[in-house]
Formats: sequence, C-alpha cells, structure tokens
Amino acid sequence: MPVPEAVKIRVEELRREIEKHNYNYYVLDSPTISDARFDSLMRELESLERRYPELAAPDSPTMRVGGAPREGFVTVSHLAPMLSLSNAFNEEELRDFDRRVRQGVGEAGVEYVAELKIDGLAVSLVYEDGLLARAATRGDGDNGEDITPNMRTVRAVPLRLKNPVKLLEVRGEAYMPKDAFARLNQAREESGEPLFANPRNAAAGSLRQLDPAVTASRQLSIFMYAVGAVEGVTFKTHQAVLEYLKDQGFRVNPHYRVFKDIDGVADYCREWQHARFDLPYATDGVVVKVNDLAQQNALGATMKSPRWAVAYKYPPEQARTVVRDIILRVGRTGVLTPTAILKPVKLAGTTVTRATLHNEDIIRERDIRIGDTVLVHKAGDVIPEVLEVIKEERKGNEKPFSMPAECPECGSPVTRPQGEAAVRCFNPGCPARSREGLIHFVSRSAMDIAGLGPALIGQIISSGLVKDAADLYRLKKEDLVPLERLGEKSAQNLIDALEKSRQNPLNRVIYALGIRHVGERAARLLAGRFKTMENLMDARVEDLVAIPEIGPRIAESVTEYFSDPANRDLVRRLAEAGLKMRVDEDRDRTGTGPLEGKTVVLTGTLKKYTRQEARELVERLGGRVSSSVSGKTDLVVAGEDPGSKYEKAVKLGVRVIDEEEFLGLVGEG
Ligand code: IVH
Repeated sequence: MPVPEAVKIRVEELRREIEKHNYNYYVLDSPTISDARFDSLMRELESLERRYPELAAPDSPTMRVGGAPREGFVTVSHLAPMLSLSNAFNEEELRDFDRRVRQGVGEAGVEYVAELKIDGLAVSLVYEDGLLARAATRGDGDNGEDITPNMRTVRAVPLRLKNPVKLLEVRGEAYMPKDAFARLNQAREESGEPLFANPRNAAAGSLRQLDPAVTASRQLSIFMYAVGAVEGVTFKTHQAVLEYLKDQGFRVNPHYRVFKDIDGVADYCREWQHARFDLPYATDGVVVKVNDLAQQNALGATMKSPRWAVAYKYPPEQARTVVRDIILRVGRTGVLTPTAILKPVKLAGTTVTRATLHNEDIIRERDIRIGDTVLVHKAGDVIPEVLEVIKEERKGNEKPFSMPAECPECGSPVTRPQGEAAVRCFNPGCPARSREGLIHFVSRSAMDIAGLGPALIGQIISSGLVKDAADLYRLKKEDLVPLERLGEKSAQNLIDALEKSRQNPLNRVIYALGIRHVGERAARLLAGRFKTMENLMDARVEDLVAIPEIGPRIAESVTEYFSDPANRDLVRRLAEAGLKMRVDEDRDRTGTGPLEGKTVVLTGTLKKYTRQEARELVERLGGRVSSSVSGKTDLVVAGEDPGSKYEKAVKLGVRVIDEEEFLGLVGEG
C-alpha cells in the first residue's frame, strides 16, 4: 500500500515544525512552545514513521535520539586539515602577533575579529546537498573519528541547512555547559565512576561514545566558528562567514566583535577576563582572527597553525585560602565524601566556601589538614578543588583528618570495601541515603521528574509523605499544596511529571534505582539483555558478565542489590505504581533506521542475501525478525517461491514487499 499523500504532507510538516522548535530552543535559546506540546508533536511524528517506515529520512528529528551502539569508531580524513592555534599568554605576546601580521600584509590596515575561546573540542560537520552527512572529531588535524550518530543527538546541530549548497564543511567547538558538567561529575562520584577533569574531557568523553544514546543524555551544545571545505559560496571576511553560519541555522557565539586595531582587541580580552565567569559555559581565552580572508590567505599557515590567528589564553584562576574544617556528605550509595569547608575566597567569579576532596586517599596524598593554607581552583570554572597545600604556611597546629568509624548521619558502622577508594555506610535505612537516592531517582537522566528539586525532596521526606521512590507515586495534589512555597500550579505540574514518568522505558527505571556502578549505559545493556525487571532480579553473576561490557564489578553490584529483600520490595511497589518493568518491543528502540520497532517476517529465497544476512540487516536497521506471520507482523519480505507465510500475510492484510522493494527500503536499491 503506497503511503497516503496526506501522511507524507503531515510528516513533512511535523519535521519542519519540530526542527523549528529545536532551533528556537537550542540555537536561539528562546523556546516558543511548552515541553508538553513539543513532546506531543514528537510522538505524532514517531508514530507516523513507525507506521510508514519508507518515510524514514536521515534529517528527521526522530534520528536525534541516538540509535544502536556501534562496534568501534571509523577514522575519516578531513577535507582540509584542521589546524590548531598558537598561543599568546599576555598582552605583549598579543601585540607581537599583531606586529607579525602587519608585517605580513604590508601597507594595508588590518581588522581583527575577537571571539571567546570555548573550552570544548573541535569538530567538523560536513553537509552534502544541504543535509548533515558526516561529523568528525579533529583528531590529529588530518584524520579524525567519525562521530556522526553522536553529533546528530546534539540538538543545536542542524540536520539540514536553511539554504542548501552542494558542499559545506563547518567547524566549531562542541562543549558541555557548566551545570551539566557539575551534575555529571556529581553523578559519577556517586556511582564510583572516574570523574572528568574538565568540560573539555567531559565533552570528548560524551562524543566518543559507542552508544549515541549516552551522548544524547549529556546535554552537549556547540558553537560554530569557521567553514572548511565549501562549494557554491564565497566569502570576503571572517565576519561574513559567521553571519552566513547564523543564517544557515548554526549556533554562533553572540559575543564576537570586530576591531580596527589590536588596542580594541586587548580591551576585549581584559573585559572578558572576569565577565566570562558569568557565562553558562567554560572559556579559557579569546581567539583573535584577521578579518579579511584575502589577508588570511596571504599570511598562510605553518605546519601546525595559521599565521592569521592566535589564542590569547587567560592565566588559570587560583586562590589561596584556609581549610577550616573537613565534613562528610553521605551519598545515595552510602559513600562518605569528604568536603573541605574553606575560609570564603573569591575565585572565578564566585565566593567559594567549600571544595570536594573526593576521598580519603586524596586527602592523604595531598596531605590536607584542617587549618592548612591551600591553593584552590575550579575544575571547568565550576567545581572548586584543593590543588595543593602551601606547606610553608604550616604552624604546627594543623589537624590531620581521618575517616570516622560510624556514619555521620545514622551512626551505623562504615567500611571501606577492599580495592575501593570510598568508605561507605551500608545501612539501607540511613536517612541521607534515602534523600540522595530520591534526588537521583527523579534526576533528568533517570526518571526525569521535573520540579522535584533537592529542597522539595527534603520537605516531602521530613513531612513524612515519602520514604522512598515508590511513595512518590502515591502523592496527590492535596498532599503537596500545603507544602511551603508550592503553589497549586507547581503541585499539578509535579503530579503530571510523575504521571508522565510512568511511561519511561525499563532502562531508565533500572538506572533510577541507583545501583552502584550501574550508569546509563549499563542500564541500557541490562534492559536490552534481560527484557524484564524480573529476569534481571534473578540474574546470576555469570549471566551478567556474559554481556559484553558488563564486568564483574557491575555484575556483583547488581546481584548484591537484588539480594537485599528491601530492594526487591521497592521494585515490587514501583511495579504496582505502574512503572515499566519490561522492554516494550514496539516502543523501545533496540536499533535504528527505517525498520525501527518493526516486526518483519522473511519468506522465500532472496537473490542478494542469505536468510542470515537478511536477518542481520533487518536487525541493524532496528527491526526484529519473527518466524511466523500474525496480526502483529508489520512487514513480510517475500523472495522467490514464498511459502504459506505469504498467503497468510495476504489473508491478514499484512503488508508484503518483494526483494526489490526491500532493497529500496534498506537503502541498498
Ligand atoms: S578557530 C585554524 N575559534 O581552540 C583555527 N578555535 O587552541 C581553528 N577553539 O582547536 C580554530 N573556541 O578547538 C577557533 N572561537 C574559536 C574557538 C576555537 C575554541 C578551540 C579549537 C581549536 C583550539 C585551538
């Protein structure tokens, strides 16, 4: 059955509409519709694409959710080398750069464009005939890694240009906003995963993910600042390039400015030295570029970097202060995290009063004592850390810190499991653990229950309304309204958010449980393998480690978690509350592509593929192969001499296609 014309039109309309809202939200930072309305447009499109897989298109917004994990990364060569920049560490070096430039261009004057230097990683996006065809990391400048599926999940990346041209390679900086970086590291600390040292590493780690769904959850964004290879357009100035990129729908940092001489640039660098800390993303300098492209060409490049640009680097922000105390915070898995209470000190735009010390080993290695004068900095301009102790300042009365034998919140004994850096409280009834567990449960990458922040969680716990996650689903609006600072409207929104979260797929529910070492990726793998919570609960260590990527650390943590009757009971009550406890094969994506979520039956002999190859192809494209035709079958592929399955399909009105049509559908025709 051909796709009805009205469906084609509606699908196009939805795609344009959704991408317009993506653009308003993620590129212009000014949304014009509610999240709920956006979700409903998205659901309508998803459902139409599921019904009519032949309408699949690489630039559909549904392609942004992240498809099937891949085996490894493919190396790609850049169309033109991606150079790096030489640095200037002070005004004198900036002026040296200006002198070299003016010498190079002779009599003519030089204009500069100054841009903020974003702390992320350089990526290249290639558009062919207006469609995003490939995304790659910078790599060594000549060859990078293909990260196309990952980059598609970044909503600020247009999937198609507003004004298509034959070829356009755009370059820019992918980055992780400060708040996302802080949240990610906190979650990782909590689940015992290694921390990212800075937003650059976090962004790189998020893009170099074999599973694009993990990238999708990381809230990356991007600013574009250059074109590489291009056909069909020419430019006179760098400023014109930036304006063109904006017109094409790219996100361009709004703070760039054009200057007639280096004095203006130097002022700009001074202005931003402190103002930059108010930005929601980390910056580490200013990039200064000659504006005139003919002059850029004349100046050329060395092997490593262009002569027409320089990176003016700000000195790292550090401050001296005193450690007044070391306190302990108890996290959801019972980990005791030591935190230094500092004498308030101005650092990178804020007054810092505390710094995480991570664990007791770090305190010992850096020999941090209460009373010490220390040097602090902010990782990624956001997370205060103690770098080192200024030993010369020691007076002799500083007090070494040691971990207590009991949990500071509940008083039960704590232990440090062998091979781990963390000391933990194992009391499942510890109030701090319940509070932190709930904070994790409702967080964005877990059940995503908006409007339920740490303060409100504290309130609903202390008012006795809620003890654990399952209790959340028994909340009624009337329970919430009397709470301090919660109006009718917020209460209703919260109830709606809870209701919506019941639809979250199994992998999110598993992640939300907060099992130690089970991050988002592991949760997806577990859901994909076991299909139901019940199966997972009964899995043995050997079943778990049989999954590639699941090691003994995760496996033991999972079995330990489910061996606790209290945890099994929690899961039972969550199931009663209506949460998804099994993979919904029709909805939850197992793969990606035109056959996403489809049940396909193969019959007869195909010319081009063996049965096994055809099955793998269907699975790679997101479908599932079934051996018999039923009312649930979406598609029957009939080769030569099809058998009774063909007849049954015709009888049931299931769509049947021949090999040629199948090849067209899977993109091999
Ligand atoms: S232009 C040949 N502009 O800084 C010029 N780079 O230290 C290519 N960066 O590799 C770079 N913000 O990853 C340029 N506004 C900006 C930038 C920027 C950040 C990064 C980029 C580059 C590195 C060089």
